[in-house]
Parts: sequence; C-alpha cells; structure tokens
Amino acid sequence: MDISVVTTQPFPDQKPGTSGLRKRVRQFRQPHYLENYIQSVFDACPDLKNGELLVGGDGRFHNREAIQVILRMAAANGVQKVAIGYGGLLSTPAASYLIRSRGATGALILSASHNPGGPEGDFGIKLNTANGGPAPHSVTDAIFEQSTRISHYRIANGAEHVDIDHLHAVQMGDMDIEVVDPVGTYADYMATLFDFDRIGELLRSDHFRMRFDSMHAVTGPYAEEILINRLGAPADTILRAEPLADFGGRHPDPNLSHARELSEALFGRDAPDFGAASDGDGDRNMILGRRFFVTPSDSLAIMAANAHHIPAFADGLKGVARSMPTSQAVDVVAEKLALPCFETPTGWKFFGNLLDDGRIRLCGEESFGTSSDHVREKDGLWAVLFWLNLLAVRRQSVEEIVRDHWRQYGRHYYTRHDYEAVESERAEQVMARIREQLSVLPGQSLAGMRVAQADDFAYRDPVDNSLTEHQGLRVLFESGARIVFRLSGTGTEGATLRLYIEQHETHPEHLDADPQELLGPLIDAASRLGDIPGLTRREKPDVIT
Ligand code: G6P
Ligand code: ZN
Repeated sequence: MDISVVTTQPFPDQKPGTSGLRKRVRQFRQPHYLENYIQSVFDACPDLKNGELLVGGDGRFHNREAIQVILRMAAANGVQKVAIGYGGLLSTPAASYLIRSRGATGALILSASHNPGGPEGDFGIKLNTANGGPAPHSVTDAIFEQSTRISHYRIANGAEHVDIDHLHAVQMGDMDIEVVDPVGTYADYMATLFDFDRIGELLRSDHFRMRFDSMHAVTGPYAEEILINRLGAPADTILRAEPLADFGGRHPDPNLSHARELSEALFGRDAPDFGAASDGDGDRNMILGRRFFVTPSDSLAIMAANAHHIPAFADGLKGVARSMPTSQAVDVVAEKLALPCFETPTGWKFFGNLLDDGRIRLCGEESFGTSSDHVREKDGLWAVLFWLNLLAVRRQSVEEIVRDHWRQYGRHYYTRHDYEAVESERAEQVMARIREQLSVLPGQSLAGMRVAQADDFAYRDPVDNSLTEHQGLRVLFESGARIVFRLSGTGTEGATLRLYIEQHETHPEHLDADPQELLGPLIDAASRLGDIPGLTRREKPDVIT
C-alpha cells in the first residue's frame, strides 16, 4: 500500500461542540479540512487503532465521500479493522450498541444530527469511545489541541473505492474492512428489552393506528425492520422512510413544524392514536398522542413512573438523571420512588459515568432525548418502543396516561424560547448582564415569586470528581419555578440563546392551562432580566417549544 504523508496547516476552528465537530458542508469540503480533523482524532486517541473502529453516518450529503477518505486514512494510520454500516448508514444509538456488543474501540459517526443536509447544509463528525458513549471533554479537548498544531496527515494513495453497499469483507493494505448490518442487530437487541408480543398485538389490532416519521433520515430502515417486519404494523405506518442525502430538503428535526405531515395527521380529523418521529441520526424522539403533544421532560418523568411495566426494567431503575435545563418533573417521581436523581450539564456525555457506574438506568433531556443503560447514547426508536409497550400494557391513550401522571405528580409547565443565530457578542452580553445580577437576585421578587437562589451552574461528576463550570445561568424560585439562560453548544452560525422556563402546578384545577399564558409573567421577567430585546435586537424568539 502506497502511503502519502501530506503537509498541511491547522484550521483554527476545529473545536468540537456539544456533540462533535459540526460545520457547513462547504467548510468540510475545503481541501485538507476533513483530513486534518481525522488525523487529529487518530493522533489524540491512538487506542482507536488497536482493534475495530466503526464508521457510518446518517446518510447526509458528503457521507459516502467522507467514509472513503476515512478508510484511506485509517489504513494509512495503522488501524487494525474498520466496520462500516451497510450503505454507509449507522444510527447513533446503533453505533453505541455495536461498539459495546462487538467490543470495538470506538466509532466515527458522520452526522450533524437534526441540522439540515445537502450541499448548503451541515455536516459533522462525532467520536464515540469504547464504552459506546460520546467522547468526554478530556478527549475532545485533546483532539482540538492536536488540530491546532497539526502539520501532516497520512492517507493511502490510489486505493480503490470500497464497496459499502454489500455485506462483505475486504482488505486495504493490512487493514480489514467489513460491511455490517446494524439494522438486524439493533432490532434483535430491542426484542430483548421490550414485550414484542404485546406491542405486536397492539400494532396489528383494528383499534390502534400509529404514524412514525423517519424524516428521510437514518431511522427509515430501522423502523421498517422493527415496526413492519417484526411487529407487523401496516405498511403506511412509516412516513418518509427512505434516507435521502438532503432529507427531502427539510430539517430532520423531530418537532411539530419540521414533522409537518405527522403533526397534521395527529392534530387533524380522524387522527391516529400514536405519533412519533426521530431525527437525522436517530437519537432524538418526539412523542404525540391523538391531538396531544408530550413534552420531552414529561416523557422522561412518565417513563420513570412506569418503568416497572417494561421487561428491561423488571429489576428497577436504581437511579435517574436529567440535564439541568430539563424540567424537574422526573425529580418528583424519583422522590416518590425513593430513587437518586442526578442533574447534569446539557450533553449526553455527562450521563456516561453515571450509567457506567450503575448509578442510574434511565435519563433524558428537554432536547428530545431519552434513553437508558442499554446503550450510551440517547435512542429515538427505543423511546418509541417504550411508549408502545406502555400503551399496550396500560390500554389507555397517550393523553390519558399523561393526564393521570399530572393528577398524581402535578404538572410542570415548561417552555423553551430560542433566539437563533444572534451575533455572538450580543448573546454574550445578555449572559454577562444576568451574571452580574446573580448575587443580588436572591430574596428579590420576580413575577410575583421570591427568588431563592441564582447561580452559574457547575457540575461535579460524582464518579470521577471532574468539575464542569459555566453550564447555564439559573434563577430558582422558592416555589420551585425556574428560569434558565444558556447558550447552545450545537449551532453552526453565531450564537443561539436559549431561555428555559418552568413552573410546577399541583392544584387539580390548574392542570389544563396554556403553557405560554401560564408562564407569561416568568417569560417577561426573564426577558427583562437579560434585556433580551435591547441586546439581541429581537422582538421575539425564533422558535418556541
Ligand atoms: C445534542 C446532544 C444533546 C444535547 C443537545 C443540546 O443533541 O446530543 O445531548 O442536549 O445537543 O443542544 P444545544 O444546542 O442546546 O447545546
Ligand atoms: Zn441526533
């Protein structure tokens, strides 16, 4: 095998964010850009070479080309073996499972998650390590550090394009390459966690209809295998099943506006009983009932309260965790069940130690992510199967289950307001303005409620004792209500300011209000506190969820 050692210069912007390096496709296609980053990964993580490395992505534009480059670089860097998802496709949760089940050294997942694809869209690379989870900060920092002083990269010359569309094994130099079927393996695994007999009965019955929106992204083949082939759901259950390089020109983001057909169906006449969607790389989930939206925070709390109905949790939950901006609905359940409940910074990687150490079995985030100790990623289809299993056992509608939950635990009214692509400096000014007030806020009254505590959230990992600071500004009220300000770690342009607002209501007559109305006073108070309109020059948020 002929290897080139190519001279290169560092790019200053290869710092991985909340989930990997995420940039515009045109940035990734600059000469040497992808190569520099991959070489930095191999240099910072030499252990990846000593075994099998998984590679695959969500099928977005540039996926197939990038895989060929990675193969040639892996061979030139002495990687023992690369396993590729059939067709170059590998969902994030399946990658996590395959790392664990095959004992791989890690995975390179080519995805920008829910961001749009196509030549004008985004591309991304995530690294997962040997436990199956996203690389921790220490690793991503080391990769970035390496990227700032890179001078050469290694790549195999003249190697032929590897056929990634057939299950087979080949060699490139000394490196083994195997094209594997992640779909069947993942489906087999799901069958061990849930009651497929009961779910199948429900899906085949005349009284139940479901729609799942794959958003022309990676979950299409998985949903077809699980829902149609194994569980016997009718073929029209899945919308937009075929993975496309541009996701059909839309954002593969499971929310009510991007999953338009799904929300029209579920909120229209003759609506199906259950609706769900996942994102580009298959780790997020949105859950809908007939004319009913389940917030991700509520979904997590309901899962915790109902886990005993699910075969995988027959032995109990041990503990639960949520990211800081996620509502405290799950905390209330944990308290009742006498379970430890952890509050981590945003980003799935922070759950990794808690899961590995056996302290928790279930965790989730407001950003449409839920999962358990079955993998080390959030898992969209797993969440859908959890809900299906629950519906099959409880024989109630989604809405009835949620309303029952509110009656028992109270309702955590919740909203997130996003100000997108704000000039970074202006977004920083908002944060600085709030930070200045943190020390004087306790004891003050805002929106008719007394502030109990105000701080800059920091997390001390109970397993490895590491400290992660500046993870969002919190204003906590005596009533349990909260305002949280945070800058997104996943944007590709400017800064995205997120405002999270929450208030707990337990009175049986206060369970049916409009969240925007009920939370109105807190929203106004938050906006004034940060002088958001003045500093961002935005009259209103771009997205409200
Ligand atoms: C990704 C991560 C999640 C995280 C989310 C936050 O999806 O996988 O764990 O919650 O980003 O995004 P943000 O834009 O709020 O930083
Ligand atoms: Zn995702």
